[in-house]
Amino acid sequence: MRKPTIVGVSGASGTPYAAAVLRGLIDAGESIDLVVSRAARLTILDETGHAFRDAHWKDDLTTWLGRDLGGADIVHWPAGDLAAGPSSGSYPARGMVVVPASTAACAGIAIGLSKDLLQRAAEVHLKERRRVVVVPRETPVTRSHLEHLIALHDAGAVVLPASPGFYGAGASASAQQLIDFVAGKILDALGVEHTLFRRWTGELGAR
Ligand SMILES: Cc1cc2nc3c(=O)[nH]c(=O)nc-3n(C[C@H](O)[C@H](O)[C@H](O)COP(=O)(O)O)c2cc1C
Repeated sequence: MRKPTIVGVSGASGTPYAAAVLRGLIDAGESIDLVVSRAARLTILDETGHAFRDAHWKDDLTTWLGRDLGGADIVHWPAGDLAAGPSSGSYPARGMVVVPASTAACAGIAIGLSKDLLQRAAEVHLKERRRVVVVPRETPVTRSHLEHLIALHDAGAVVLPASPGFYGAGASASAQQLIDFVAGKILDALGVEHTLFRRWTGELGAR
């Protein structure tokens, strides 16, 4: 049975994190169901200079990821399609990641708003007790942001802030190395193998 990882991209800054996770899942041979919120189209356009359109998602995803999708098993669902597969608990899936997660998406998922397919699919995953990884990107944060993250944690989600560590690549780390660090931590949380960063060896200064 096909058991995809649902990748929800919401409208926070940090679309390179989503691209790195998608590349990592493709490289690991994982099946992917992709949901891109309406606001995420603005951040993708702002951060990459490229549009993401439902009608042309394959071409636009190829441009965004900067690689041929080859035989990758990717299903795209429009964010407004509340009848889509991932809106039901009977739809098989191995887990979901919301990357990046806007404060609005965190709030909506935490309170069960289900205002679009991304929020509904995440809520379904939580109620089915499936793996959910939420990657918030906002700073500084309000009390209400923190309360929504606590609610997500208590509902079983892994709250994984987009907070890169420097110990793998050192102070001269490139932006891509910092992005890959966060993407690698996300793949760890999803249980997907990767080589996106060097793991801590117990040796200070080892590169
Ligand atoms: C260019 C741009 C950058 C944004 N960056 C952030 C951000 O880093 N974090 C955040 O929580 N919201 C950010 N927002 C605001 C969200 O897009 C907005 O709250 C939106 O309603 C989120 O909707 P969604 O959760 O359905 O994607 C940004 C908006 C734009 C246009």
